[in-house]
Amino acid sequence: MKICCIGAGYVGGPTMAMIAKQCPDIQVHVVDLNAKRIAAWNSDTLPVYEPGLDEVVREARGRNLQFSTSVDEAIAASDIIFISVNTPTKTFGMGAGRAANLEFIEKCARQIARVSHGHKIIVEKSTLPVRTAEAVGRILNSSGNEATFDVLSNPEFLAEGTAVQDLINPDRVLIGGESAQAIETLAGIYARWIPREKILTTNLWSSELSKLTANAFLAQRVSSINAISALCEATGADVDEVARAVGTDSRIGPKFLKASVGYGGSCFQKDILNLVYLCEHFGLREVAAYWEQVVSMNDFQKRRFGERIVKTLFNTVSDKHIAIWGWAFKKDTNDSRESAAIHVCRDLLREHARLFIYDPRVGEVQIREDLVHSFADASGHIHPAHQKLIDENVTIARDCHAAADGAHAIAVMTEWDEFKNLDVGKIYSNMLRPAFVFDGRNILDRKLYREIGFEIHTIGRS
Ligand code: UDX
Ligand code: UDX
Repeated sequence: MKICCIGAGYVGGPTMAMIAKQCPDIQVHVVDLNAKRIAAWNSDTLPVYEPGLDEVVREARGRNLQFSTSVDEAIAASDIIFISVNTPTKTFGMGAGRAANLEFIEKCARQIARVSHGHKIIVEKSTLPVRTAEAVGRILNSSGNEATFDVLSNPEFLAEGTAVQDLINPDRVLIGGESAQAIETLAGIYARWIPREKILTTNLWSSELSKLTANAFLAQRVSSINAISALCEATGADVDEVARAVGTDSRIGPKFLKASVGYGGSCFQKDILNLVYLCEHFGLREVAAYWEQVVSMNDFQKRRFGERIVKTLFNTVSDKHIAIWGWAFKKDTNDSRESAAIHVCRDLLREHARLFIYDPRVGEVQIREDLVHSFADASGHIHPAHQKLIDENVTIARDCHAAADGAHAIAVMTEWDEFKNLDVGKIYSNMLRPAFVFDGRNILDRKLYREIGFEIHTIGRS
């Protein structure tokens, strides 16, 4: 059997590498329009940083896993075609700021229709609005050639930073579709390493909606605990204690109750906005407003964090040196899409702070690109004054110490493990007084920082 995947991103790359690892007899071909990304997948420095991924790729690459830009050839040769291209929020036209941009999905469907012969199974891996599969099916089946298609929805639930473990041992695999035979073919691949009882099958629309719903529920938990964190700061309660007490209720459970500077990542916001758009489309205004509040709360949390820094630093950060520890949207990934760090740093730059940023995995080019993007208008233009702010007030540091050298304050934006084991005394001795720390992830040893002389501010504690 031969399979291919269009889109070699954070989802397509690791997922296909895992299938290739687990099924040495299946040829897996991952294709992408982006030649640079493909070259990176073929090199020793993969474009996606995930613990354990290098080993998985190394085992299968050249055996039954290949990466290339030959999209037409890969489609024509494959029995199963995964679509894992990105579906960003639309920035223009109808549904701008909410609806998913399905342009790439539609282009993929047309390309598949054009070059296919015989029968193929098309698998939606990308997270999509409900009923997209129907549109994909219609495009495929009106190509005019003799090829026939089954469309399945198989959303991916892996989380970045733990992708390899999530792929080896997922809570469930979800396959939605109409053709029992096509479902069985795909289920048979996963069943090589995943117990059958974990492979759930549904109709197409349930599968598409389940993915949006799962992400909305997860984001809602983070927004819920973050809402309570604001109340904790006002009342003297401790949000981590509240989370522990609440999470021991087996009906609630302990996961996804970690208060933070705000969730990020490519999925939560995009998928909730997508859900909101769908609800509005179907006239369900109250349902739309309910879910939209999850995003508003997250925006509030990010804004609040920056405001707290400014207020604490005597109401001005102008020309003050602030060390930013962490840029990725969570630890163990090099992905910074929608990272809270971007929003907080944009707000601090507006206040004319000087930022010294360090992240173990996100490089300078990406950080600057993210900042430019955060200031840009809908058509991508940035005002020269904002560009100047970035050029003159942002320095990328080589480590935590360098970032904090001579600083007024440190802000922790990502929960990287290395931030927990630093020489705190040395950092303190190189900072200005009073030395402030704002821990946006509640990972630092508060007691230690205080003993050394820092004034430490954390999330959800007064
Ligand atoms: C993406 C979506 O964000 C997510 O909603 C979906 O569930 C899976 O796909 P991710 O893998 O993180 O997630 O996206 P990204 O890293 O941007 O990868 C998408 C890749 O598709 C890019 O490398 C892009 O070059 C490629 N692509 C996009 C194509 O090859 N062809 C296209 O027409 C469009
Ligand atoms: C998420 C879903 O978990 C995954 O199933 C889906 O396939 C894609 O979207 P991801 O965005 O990669 O995965 O990471 P996740 O671990 O869910 O974290 C998302 C954001 O929430 C991060 O910024 C993280 O720091 C934040 N978060 C998570 C919290 O602030 N508190 C928590 O308790 C959990």
